[in-house]
Formats: sequence, structure tokens, C-alpha cells
Amino acid sequence: MVQIVPSILSADFARLADDIARVEHAGVSMLHVDVMDGHFVPNITLGPPVLKCIRKATRLTLDVHLMLMDPDRYAPLFIEAGADQVSVHQETCPHLDRTLRQIQAAGVPAGVVLNPATPVTMLEDVLEVADFVLIMSVNPGFGGQRLIPRALEKIRWLKERRAQLGLNYAIEIDGGVNHDNLADVVRAGCDWVVTGATVFESPDPAATVAGLQQMAQAAGS
Ligand code: DX5
Ligand code: ZN
Repeated sequence: MVQIVPSILSADFARLADDIARVEHAGVSMLHVDVMDGHFVPNITLGPPVLKCIRKATRLTLDVHLMLMDPDRYAPLFIEAGADQVSVHQETCPHLDRTLRQIQAAGVPAGVVLNPATPVTMLEDVLEVADFVLIMSVNPGFGGQRLIPRALEKIRWLKERRAQLGLNYAIEIDGGVNHDNLADVVRAGCDWVVTGATVFESPDPAATVAGLQQMAQAAGS
């Protein structure tokens, strides 16, 4: 089943628990948490102490997307703070195979993320290791941007390669997903669809998530 994964980047950080509760009641099972360090991306969000508070506020699976330099140093801190799964950017990991295995050894699934400008073939040699692959469909750093259509080619390639190799990594997309492009995104082969602004900037996030979830199921069947 395709999952809609709300991203709290566009939530009201002063009322985070309320915003999270809204989408949790709408029936999602995962929550996307964007960690930005002001170096790898030109924005800053939150660190382990905030994740720890989020952990106490929800039972949703916390999908932590690390947009920071030195993920080897910081991934363990986010896992300790309550991350259920952690993804790292290929662009920040000179020893990507090792980084993914270290995250797994710390007890959680490990994902690898690709920026729009990085060819998907860069992942060929870690597909066996990764538990999931996250394709950025915007340049990371901000919510509310437009989806770069080329990302869907990468999704199709990942789906095809997964079948060819007999692997079972999940395929996730992040950035610019809205009501107009969701069906295409799902048909391309996404298992997890992150949505930030579309959900949290709508007047009724719970209803929006429920609608997107229905739309995704219809497109996937
Ligand atoms: C962007 C973040 C995304 C962001 C997506 O750097 O990684 O997770 O929240 O937000 P929307 O859906 O608004 O593009
Ligand atoms: Zn993200």
C-alpha cells in the first residue's frame, strides 16, 4: 500500500504536537522529519533534543531525513533520540556503504537520499544494502517548491532495478508533491510519498491527508 508521509517542515513548530496529532488521527503511519544544518542545505531546522520531544508526542514511525554534513557523527544521536529510520544523502557520504551499515547496526532501517543533480546510477552498488531510497524531487532546504519531473525517471529506474535484482528496498519521493502530480508519482513506482506544504498549509490537514491517501490508493491499484 502506498503511504502518504506528512513532512512537519511546513507545520506550525510552536504547535507541533497538535499538528502531528491531526495527521495521526487521519490514519497515516509515518511522519517525515527534516533535519537541516545550514551547511549542506541553506536552512536550519531541528536537532536531537527536539526529536526527543516529538518522539514523546506520537507513536508514528519517525522517518528522519538528515540534510547535514557528517551523518556518521549525527545519525547515532538521532537514533538515540527516537528516530525509527534514518536517511543520509549520497552527496554527504564518502563511505556510503559503511554509513548505511552503521545505521543498521544501530538498530534502524537505513535509507539513501539523492539530490536532483545526482544520477540515480550512483546508487547501483548500494542497492543491496539500503532499506529504502529517497529521491529528492526538489533541491533540499525548503518546503513548498515545485516538483522537478526528472525525479520520476529515477523512480521508474529504481522500481525496474529492484525487480531485476530481486531486492525489496522501499522507494520514497520528497518535494513538491500535490494533488495534481500525486497520481503520476504513484504510477512511477513510489511506495512512500512525502508531502509538506500540501498538507500543512491546507485549511484542514487531516482531511487533506485522508484525501491524498485515497487518491494514492486509487492511482496505485
Ligand atoms: C525539502 C524537505 C522536504 C519538504 C517537502 O528539503 O526535504 O521534506 O518538507 O515539502 P513540500 O512537500 O512542501 O515540497
Ligand atoms: Zn525531507
